[in-house]
Amino acid sequence: MDLEKIKDLLEEELNSCSNLEDLEKIRIKYLGRKGILKEYFKKLKEFPEEERKEKGKILNELQERIENFLEERKKDFEREKEEFIDLFIPGRKIENGSFHPISIVLKEIEEIFTSMGFEVVSGPEIESDYNNFEALNIPKEHPVRDMQASFFIEEDIILRTHTSPVQIRIMKSKKPPVRIVAPGKVYRVDPFDPSHSPVFHQLEGLYVDIGVTFAELKGTIEIFAREFFGPETKIRFLPSYFPFTEPSAEVSISCTICKGKGCSTCGGTGWLEILGCGMVHPKVFENVGYDAEKYTGYAFGFGIERMAMIKYRIPDIRLFYENDIDFLRIFK
Ligand code: PHE
Repeated sequence: MDLEKIKDLLEEELNSCSNLEDLEKIRIKYLGRKGILKEYFKKLKEFPEEERKEKGKILNELQERIENFLEERKKDFEREKEEFIDLFIPGRKIENGSFHPISIVLKEIEEIFTSMGFEVVSGPEIESDYNNFEALNIPKEHPVRDMQASFFIEEDIILRTHTSPVQIRIMKSKKPPVRIVAPGKVYRVDPFDPSHSPVFHQLEGLYVDIGVTFAELKGTIEIFAREFFGPETKIRFLPSYFPFTEPSAEVSISCTICKGKGCSTCGGTGWLEILGCGMVHPKVFENVGYDAEKYTGYAFGFGIERMAMIKYRIPDIRLFYENDIDFLRIFK
């Protein structure tokens, strides 16, 4: 066989190599003791000097070509072996994000109230002193202001200390009937400890129409509490005081931990306070231009974090703001 043919054949065979065994076959066939190249080397003697030199050179090149090729491909094939793909390994789970627990709880609460005919509205977090206090019958020197110490933006402009100013905004912009809930952030100069945060969330409720009664307020709160905390929940109304409602009440539910027997969570009382409420004060109606002779209404307000903490037994309000992934995952 002449050298050109050998060369062509070799290239073809090299190209069709697909594993380590193929490489070994080629090595034996061409470079082995009885291989094609070795045999040819032996035959070189038979050629005249010039031709011998020329052919010898080509043979050396071929040998080198094969050796290099075998070495290169060997590495490739070995690497491929290591990178063996196991199609039976279970796939990696894709981690999805989720809503923040405050958003989840808020949505749940909003759904309960919208199913009872309430509309969800919102108001600004930066408020006038007038809407946050004055219009709600809380004058400058009123002691309630101490309990809701404010962050000031400028004189008479503050970060709202509760969602009650939304009551004022809604009533100023709309004639009765109004039936709204207004969730949002509120701000107070409070410490950051297990039960306080300088910023937290509240939800305000307001219903004004002809002939709205305290009994309706009670019924609405009862339905909400049973929907949110479970049908076994007991509700207790105690007289209370807010400058913008009269009469006022604070509402407690039977302790979700001890079911009313008394434990450390409820301080041994069997009850957990969940919200403040009352009938809209005539002074407030006057301030927004509603006829207090014609209309009555009720209002209520509560903290979203507190509701979530009671329902899901969360011991520390700060957990809501730390974005600890293990905590957030619980609510997925
Ligand atoms: N705004 C009151 C608070 O922050 C709650 C409340 C709202 C009470 C509406 C009565 C009526 O404590």
